[in-house]
Amino acid sequence: MITFPSGREIILGIGAGIAAYKSCDLLRRLQEDGFSVTVVPTENSLSFVGRTTWEGLSGKPAPSNLWDSNGGVAHVDLAKLTDLIVVSPATADLIARISLGRADDLLTTTILASKAPLIIVPAMHPEMYLNPATQDNLATLKRRGIYVMSPDFGKLTSGDEGIGRLPENLAIREEINRVLARTRKLKDRRILITAGGTREAIDPVRFIGNRSSGRQGLEIAFEARREGADVTLIAGQTEEFELPGVRTIRVESALEMKSELEKEVPITDALIMTAAVADARPSRISNGKISKSELSEITLIENPDLLATAAGEKKKNQIFVGFAAETESDFRDRGRKKLHQKEVDYLFVTDIANGKVFGDTRTSGLLISKGGVEWPFLNSTKSEVARSIIDKIADDFALMETSK
Ligand code: CTP
Repeated sequence: MITFPSGREIILGIGAGIAAYKSCDLLRRLQEDGFSVTVVPTENSLSFVGRTTWEGLSGKPAPSNLWDSNGGVAHVDLAKLTDLIVVSPATADLIARISLGRADDLLTTTILASKAPLIIVPAMHPEMYLNPATQDNLATLKRRGIYVMSPDFGKLTSGDEGIGRLPENLAIREEINRVLARTRKLKDRRILITAGGTREAIDPVRFIGNRSSGRQGLEIAFEARREGADVTLIAGQTEEFELPGVRTIRVESALEMKSELEKEVPITDALIMTAAVADARPSRISNGKISKSELSEITLIENPDLLATAAGEKKKNQIFVGFAAETESDFRDRGRKKLHQKEVDYLFVTDIANGKVFGDTRTSGLLISKGGVEWPFLNSTKSEVARSIIDKIADDFALMETSK
């Protein structure tokens, strides 16, 4: 079973401030908003709220140490998984470490390794907050595009009054939702993906099929969804999967896939054809089971090329991506030829010379653009390939918007 997270993953970083206790409630509210939250406290913050509380509330491990990893590389795994990081409370020292790009604990290392948007929620004594050192560090973070919330004015734990109180959790929640809505690169875009192999029936029992697991298409659907797109997946034969938030249409044969594409392509912004469409089908489907003596009489007819057919009707602002699987050493030239033949914007040509791609989580190949740019992938994860394709599509849409 291939499973994906809901696509609403948040890391809640906890700094060593008394306001840490307020983040227990923030965590609960974020869960109510449908987020899956992983708490990453700093070691010192555990003197204010202990790990047991974080693990109990989040239902997950709350690692603080770089060496806590169970098998994977903790900071890289966390960094990849998350859609957003929020640090609340962020102390003066933590802000200084983040602004310097330090990586001396799990939280700062994860922040450095992640491309996800980051929200800093400072909470400290007014003297520390207003100190030019802290103000400079906050200015550095803002200049880098990091979202920095302003602390509230009011009574502080020390009995003093001033600026430095943690903002209300409601305001932090609103900021998280605002930042997520803003940073989703494919918001309001419709993305259509085909995945898996088609099955071409010979008789009620037998079919012509292929080894496609559908994994690459599923990874792309997940990344597109994560970027806020409205995703439709036309799936042939695949491994079993769970993809929350993706509309899935099941098909069996190439002709069934063709008729679904005819309905969906005109209303999509991008089409990504990862499906392994059978190139041919039996010219006749027998109603009864064919006896083995008749098997040699089966004749095949060519299936239509679904991608090339769709590309024939392609609208100016639509982006089409094709896939090809090649076993020969000239796979690059073959890929280029297919890109032009099928008139697509991008083509990922998979190098299947050593045959270890089907069903695997890793792949090797070359992403080629219509403009002739090439991006090689060597034993990369299918999720990295998916990320690249989705990034390119999002960049192209952004370019179309600016040149309007
Ligand atoms: N494709 C398609 N319809 C078909 C066959 C393929 O839409 N009948 C799409 C695949 O989804 C993929 C791309 O075309 O995006 C390349 O598929 P591939 O089988 O490698 O290319 P073919 O054109 O069938 O070339 P070959 O002769 O090498 O099989």
